[in-house]
Amino acid sequence: MKIIMLGAPGAGKGTQAKKIAEKYQIPHISTGDIFRANIKNGTELGKKAKTYMDQGLLVPDELVCDLVVDRVKQEDCKNGYILDGFPRTIPQAESLDAALAALGESMDYAINVEVPDENIVNRMSGRRACVGCGATYHVVYAPTKKEGICDACGAELILRDDDKPETVQKRLSVYHEQTQPLIDYYRNKGILKDVDGTMEMDAVFQAITEILGA
Ligand code: AP5
Ligand code: MG
Repeated sequence: MKIIMLGAPGAGKGTQAKKIAEKYQIPHISTGDIFRANIKNGTELGKKAKTYMDQGLLVPDELVCDLVVDRVKQEDCKNGYILDGFPRTIPQAESLDAALAALGESMDYAINVEVPDENIVNRMSGRRACVGCGATYHVVYAPTKKEGICDACGAELILRDDDKPETVQKRLSVYHEQTQPLIDYYRNKGILKDVDGTMEMDAVFQAITEILGA
């Protein structure tokens, strides 16, 4: 099963993608997580990506496409995978489609998690990410057992650099301009499924598993 998660920043793509990956035993491929790991490790890719991410802008397509195409060709992706945060532009979608077509494959589902802009800033300001394992929490909607400490690995939790309200606003406008057109792109391909992302997390997950056929 090959799945794309679509949705605004903070819609819950990562939250749901992790659960789907676990349930269906397929890799969760998040381009945002890949960039953040590169930033943490001080790689050349990380240095380049950071200049865009800190401003709420998209990293240029040429730094993203080959990375994802190489990743989905790896052995652990042979039974499917879930893409979170990619594609984010029409050229990215076209390059993914072309790479898959060359293998005689295509994506199965594009899940569009719908959350209005007014809910997003609230979600982002409450999000906390683990510096150790990357797990994501929310101070109100998904709190840890011990404040500021990751339940999974015990490391410290931080507010992501790009979750400051002014950067979130920029990310939202970039989303509407560059990523939202993908909704029609996948609708036209007949694989788009809309999900109400304002429901509570388990209800969103339930709706997605119904689409995927639990
Ligand atoms: P990326 O990391 O992908 O960020 P994003 O799309 O902005 O999305 P987020 O991760 O912020 O949100 P999410 O939808 O995963 O929500 P989450 O589940 O955490 O990308 C970061 C940057 O990298 C980009 O800005 C760009 O610069 C660059 N980049 C990445 N991919 C790229 C690409 N393909 N091309 C170019 N550049 C790229 O949930 C948010 C919060 O809400 C959490 O606290 C969570 O606990 C809470 N929450 C989730 N669901 C619910 C619910 N149902 N009810 C209440 N709270 C909820
Ligand atoms: Mg995410």
